[in-house]
Amino acid sequence: MLEKIIETTEFLKAKGVNDPDAGIILGTGLGELTAKIDTQIEIDYKDIPNFPVSTVEGHAGKLIYGKFGGKKIVAMKGRSHYYEGYGAEQVALPVRVLKYLGIKCLFLSNAAGGVNPSFQIGDIMVITDHINLLPNPLIGPNDDRIGARFPDMGEAYDKYLVNKALHIAKENNIRIHKGVYLSTTGPTFETPAEYKYFRTIGADAVGMSTTPEVIIARHMNLPCFAVSVITDLGIEGKIEYTTHESVQNEAAKAEVRMTIIMTEMISML
Ligand code: HPA
Repeated sequence: MLEKIIETTEFLKAKGVNDPDAGIILGTGLGELTAKIDTQIEIDYKDIPNFPVSTVEGHAGKLIYGKFGGKKIVAMKGRSHYYEGYGAEQVALPVRVLKYLGIKCLFLSNAAGGVNPSFQIGDIMVITDHINLLPNPLIGPNDDRIGARFPDMGEAYDKYLVNKALHIAKENNIRIHKGVYLSTTGPTFETPAEYKYFRTIGADAVGMSTTPEVIIARHMNLPCFAVSVITDLGIEGKIEYTTHESVQNEAAKAEVRMTIIMTEMISML
């Protein structure tokens, strides 16, 4: 694994991806944030050695390097999901490469179903903790050069960054929540009974991503900040027919607000 990480890191450095301050992984329907990047380099995942290529609509599959919020960033427009059939190694590699490129912080976004009864479609939730119901991406032999065998997950989401985001949202009059994100394999959306169960065990929002990347990042002690955009509701009486298109549309509507938060967060790094 380490050899592949180094090979990909060196490839990107040779292309000019140097000393990024932060990495950003963009979720379903949330890729337009990249329009705000002063882009210096853009590379398709398919042209990057060892990179998994996302097969999902709404995930462009491009790595973008440039200035955002006055900082040097690497953005991943499109990510791989477990439901696409990718193994843990393939999901892990891009996150490890970002760390080896030198990022100090990882920012993530996703589209999620709200199960907290106070949530509305279009709301933004800052993730304070998670329940990972996907297979743990660290299962298998551990490479101690990358991280410890048993990583602590007591503060998976950086508290300082969470508080900053709440402050930024307040200053910009953006409705925001804090909450627990639960990940499932997908690709089915939940049955009403499953939504109810996830609420019962402590979730505020449900999705199919993010926790593997956060686990991989925390394995390397990389601070993480993540937001969910609530694109549908898994709340009794409010459950409507959900499609990938409806998720993408609702995510796109919230994107301007999410971008304000991300820009200000990164500019204060
Ligand atoms: N469930 C799981 N994943 C999702 C949802 C959902 O309701 N909405 C967007 N991604």
